[in-house]
Amino acid sequence: MIHPIVKYGDPVLETPGKPVDKFDAELQTLVADMFESMYAANGVGLAAPQIGISLRLAVIDVSNGKNPEAKIVCANPEITHTEGEQREEEGCLSIPGFRGHVARPQFVTVRAQDASGKDYEMRGEKLLARAFCHEIDHLNGILFITHLSMLKRDMIKRKIRKLKKAGEW
Ligand code: NI
Repeated sequence: MIHPIVKYGDPVLETPGKPVDKFDAELQTLVADMFESMYAANGVGLAAPQIGISLRLAVIDVSNGKNPEAKIVCANPEITHTEGEQREEEGCLSIPGFRGHVARPQFVTVRAQDASGKDYEMRGEKLLARAFCHEIDHLNGILFITHLSMLKRDMIKRKIRKLKKAGEW
């Protein structure tokens, strides 16, 4: 089932998610729904709070659905190691139409659990490293605009307020 993506302004996006503790059939359905919703929105990552569910759960696929092996489920993820730096433009399905340059590590090692609750560790670089950081931020209630300059962030917030007033957000 495709869920609508929650947009900036909804408090769920700025609330830390609760740990995933049940890896049951309901969670499998949620994970499948999250992949479906992410692909439908043309995203490379989606965190549970973005569909209104305050859980430490995210899905990532930097291949955009082209490579089934690129599908990653992160439950209760933690970054254990970072290396280097990259500065690229970043966006977010919850803040559509706005992008900004964000500094992220070039390499990131993540420890997490998969959809069955099994622990794993994975190292990502470039776009995958960025996706890990962006999605784990979501699980901590942090949005990418937090990493922008105050000037740029305020400009985006101002434009969103106008869109809201016009009923276009
Ligand atoms: Ni996002």
